[in-house]
Amino acid sequence: MERRSFFKSLASAGFTTLLPTGSIGALLASCASANPSEEFDFEKLIDRSGTWSVKYGRATNGEIPMWIADMDFATDPFVKAALSARLDRDVLGYTSTPPEFYDAVAGWLKNYHGYQVDREWVGYAPGVIAGINQAYLTFTNPGDKIIVQPPVYDQFKLYAERLGRIVVDNPMILRDGNYYMDFDGLEQLFDDQTKILVLCNPSNPCGIHWERETLVRLAEICERHGVIVISDEIHADLTLYGVQHVPFCSVSDAAARIGLMFGSPTKSFNIAGLSGTAYCLIPNKELRERYLATLENSKLDEPPIPTLVATIAAYRDDTRWLDALKRYIEGNIQRALDFFSENQMCMEAFKPHTSFLLWIDCRALGLPQDQLMSRFKEGAKLILSNGASYGPGGEGFVRLNLGYPVSVLEEAFARIKQEFA
Ligand SMILES: Cc1ncc(COP(=O)(O)O)c(C=O)c1O
Repeated sequence: MERRSFFKSLASAGFTTLLPTGSIGALLASCASANPSEEFDFEKLIDRSGTWSVKYGRATNGEIPMWIADMDFATDPFVKAALSARLDRDVLGYTSTPPEFYDAVAGWLKNYHGYQVDREWVGYAPGVIAGINQAYLTFTNPGDKIIVQPPVYDQFKLYAERLGRIVVDNPMILRDGNYYMDFDGLEQLFDDQTKILVLCNPSNPCGIHWERETLVRLAEICERHGVIVISDEIHADLTLYGVQHVPFCSVSDAAARIGLMFGSPTKSFNIAGLSGTAYCLIPNKELRERYLATLENSKLDEPPIPTLVATIAAYRDDTRWLDALKRYIEGNIQRALDFFSENQMCMEAFKPHTSFLLWIDCRALGLPQDQLMSRFKEGAKLILSNGASYGPGGEGFVRLNLGYPVSVLEEAFARIKQEFA
């Protein structure tokens, strides 16, 4: 059966019965062709006009918007078919969270990340940042301190401060082209008001895959100081080059006692617009119950229908779409690294070990940050993410989204060369 007609039959058969993920995987496997690179088209230029895209909303003057972290690739057709099938049903009434949601997350963590978890540890999160905010509300009071390790995803700090918490920076150390956690610096920061450390695992914007030993050490230090670790693992499914992601809570008993992990298929399956599609994993019963109570008391504990369907469909057994996507991203990364090394423009790109975001050191250009950004925007007609927004250590850097067909990347490189070479 042709793949497309398979999806049609899937839809008319009412995928909404939410078959166990194993059966869906088996069905898909029997219908899809064997060679993923032939199966999925990441070269296709997709028109996003009229879709209220946040990314394109900023591109009002012919710029290519290569900032916010969603990709210009069609999502996994299986996920799309599952969503369509559910939305084709006549009634979209109040919906309970089926066991399949928890099974899908637990199964994914086991099969894709090699982490055997108890299904009870899995809970809902109304988005990764929204979930982290609920954890801030649960485990801290206004005036308490939350540690972050910049350069790091800016919203950890943004919302902590909006909630009246004090954010303390423990900047990473950049040495010989690699980032390291500053454990000596960290030991100096704790006091009675310090309640949480937020870890970006893997790291956005630097694309760092954290090694097990680093996480073991982090867990030991934080537990010794009575501090909880919130591990944002939203980019974990996109770990590249066959490297195995290391879930924080898996690394030691200490990490399982103090860790809260937040993950989501939104980056890996390119469904960020299905806002509220995320999960948490909290092995420690007391921490889990407290977090879930906060969620329930705010009436944020009910996943919307698209969240349930997309999570169950994405986290099925068959990973061929995701594997093909990762090979394509690896190709894009290699192109970008070659481009920056072949063209001497005082820019140095870091090879990411995860995700589709390229961290570029432009300090050798000697430009103030606002001029750097406007050279990219007004000069090269590219909108990139401003490195300074990621906190100390981000000044002089930009982040470039590589989630595009090669033809778009080539155009972006040509524009950079024309402006900076
Ligand atoms: C590290 C990290 N965490 C969280 C988010 C946003 O997650 P959500 O949309 O689920 O709040 C992003 C988006 O770029 C991210 O890079």
